[in-house]
Amino acid sequence: MAATNCVFNKSRRDLNRMNILQIPRTLALTDIAYEHRAIHHPYLQALASGDLPNPQAALEDFAIQYQGYTSWFPNYLTCVMSKLQSERHRGYFAENLDEEKGHLDAETVQQLEQLGIAEAWVQGIPHPVLFRRFRNALGIDAHSKPLCHAVIDWRQKFRSMLQQCSASEAIGAMGLGTESIVKHIYRYITTAIQEHTDLCRRDYVFFELHSEVDDEHAELMMRVADDLADEAPGNLEQIHRGMIKALDLRATFWDAMYARAGEA
Ligand SMILES: [Fe+2]
Repeated sequence: MAATNCVFNKSRRDLNRMNILQIPRTLALTDIAYEHRAIHHPYLQALASGDLPNPQAALEDFAIQYQGYTSWFPNYLTCVMSKLQSERHRGYFAENLDEEKGHLDAETVQQLEQLGIAEAWVQGIPHPVLFRRFRNALGIDAHSKPLCHAVIDWRQKFRSMLQQCSASEAIGAMGLGTESIVKHIYRYITTAIQEHTDLCRRDYVFFELHSEVDDEHAELMMRVADDLADEAPGNLEQIHRGMIKALDLRATFWDAMYARAGEA
């Protein structure tokens, strides 16, 4: 990455940290999101604790099914981006999409290395490919296991919701209801992997990358949400509604995965 870009990213990050404290309405919504059952679902807790009939089989099932959702993630970003009027807001999404392709700036690389994560594990590698690395490390043959109805239903409903809703609802769903909460969910998954498999860190770096250093996506979306909330009186309610819809869809998926894990 060019030096000028690195300088830009660093100053932008500093700005984010300063501004995030100035958007109490949006922060209050993330507090509500954090209390939703999608975040600390019994399925996630059981994956982490191993309190399931076959913890390893359950984790393998998660790897197969969740790939069905996460492989569509760039499409969700593109869909929400297309609803935004502001060039600055669309610019945030363009950066987000660039990071989804694996392009990391110097500050992120430094943060990763402080955590013991080598740049070579992640630099230039699209996030869906990082997820496939995790799935392959578990020894899963991609073609051997079909996607279940629950994940097909989840990703289709989420995409059609994003396509049909307002910009405010879309930001609520994608920013507050998704980007700002996945770090909490992925900590359960990381614990499950560490406790119940012998995978090395490189193999499951997808989760640590999103849990520990990828908060910037959420921060930028919260800023977009706050700007939209200023534009019209009803927008904050729409942001809230979109956030809850995304969380409800995720919780429904976890319900189905929990039932599958119980049958393993
Ligand atoms: Fe990602």
